Amino acid sequence: EAQNERESLLIALGFARDFFVKNLQTPEGKSIGLSYFKERGFTPAIIEKFDLGYALEGWDNLLQGAKSAGFREDILLKAGLILQKEGDATRVYDRFRNRVIFPIHNISGKPLGFGARILTKDKNQPKYINSPETPVYHKSDVLYGMFQAKKAIREKDNCYLVEGYTDVVSLHLSGIENVVASSGTSLTDGQIKLIKRFTDQVTVLYDGDAAGIKASLRGIDLLLEGGLNVKAVVFPDGEDPDSYSRKVGSQAFQDYLENNSRDFIGFKIGLYKEEFVKNPIRKAEVIREVVQSIGKIPDPIIRSVYAKEASGLLGIEEDIIHAELNKTLLKSQ
Ligand code: GTP
Ligand code: MN
Ligand code: MN
Ligand code: MN
Ligand code: MN
Repeated sequence: EAQNERESLLIALGFARDFFVKNLQTPEGKSIGLSYFKERGFTPAIIEKFDLGYALEGWDNLLQGAKSAGFREDILLKAGLILQKEGDATRVYDRFRNRVIFPIHNISGKPLGFGARILTKDKNQPKYINSPETPVYHKSDVLYGMFQAKKAIREKDNCYLVEGYTDVVSLHLSGIENVVASSGTSLTDGQIKLIKRFTDQVTVLYDGDAAGIKASLRGIDLLLEGGLNVKAVVFPDGEDPDSYSRKVGSQAFQDYLENNSRDFIGFKIGLYKEEFVKNPIRKAEVIREVVQSIGKIPDPIIRSVYAKEASGLLGIEEDIIHAELNKTLLKSQ
């Protein structure tokens, strides 16, 4: 029974993906959705690669289309495609309306849910509306773009991790296919395990704003705890991988990634360097910060390799690093 339900939900979600894709070719879809994508530099080939689509204006386009095709309301509801009206559960309407659509695929390319972006700068509505958790969409086990990235991740033995749907799409346009998005939430163990099926190396490319840097620091520690090797790149303030790659072009963007990838120690030191050359107290804090991250690494041999590197980069005796490291390891036991 549960298996049957899962199957029905997946079929309904596949129908919805096809529906949104077809909408993009209607007059409304062309003039609103397709022109939005074009303005962002998305090509027809990339739109097809990611099954990008458009949700029409109006309250029940998908609902009516799906019902005509024989789908039951309770299945559409469970799939997260429609919502019940507040105060009147007998009335239902489309969750996604008048937005461009990013299907979220499982690793076999089946849609499990959708991210839907607003087309205006209206600050009173959320920029993105996403599918809810459903019996088939377990957000903590899914990374946006993994279906399109998995082969390249294996080949390059590295996975770029970005924040947003559009960052994933833009990197593909720049010729970089080994990229997935955490979709603006904190990484989970399930997502880290998913990456580990394909590589042990992650390069974090979060937005170049205060929130992005904070999320990078948190993400780095989670990835280290998961036993992954971690690098990170900082973007100029206000830029994300999508905006920066479009600003400088593919080649300069690829060069930027190469020249600015730092391991997590270099990344942390880089963030605070300007402050701590002037202020020795700040330097002590940075040392503790770096040691705290090294303490997350499960493998003691790799830990000691990084302790040596930290000692060199920070100009602190290795004994001191080890003493501090032992303190954090004792605390976390
Ligand atoms: P663009 O503005 O279209 O370039 O998108 P972005 O990906 O750069 O957006 P941002 O950096 O603000 O957010 C990163 C990711 O967080 C998005 O891709 C979404 O997955 C998620 N996110 C952003 N805004 C919202 C929101 O309003 N609601 C929800 N649920 N998620 C959001
Ligand atoms: Mn779940
Ligand atoms: Mn941001
Ligand atoms: Mn962004
Ligand atoms: Mn962006």
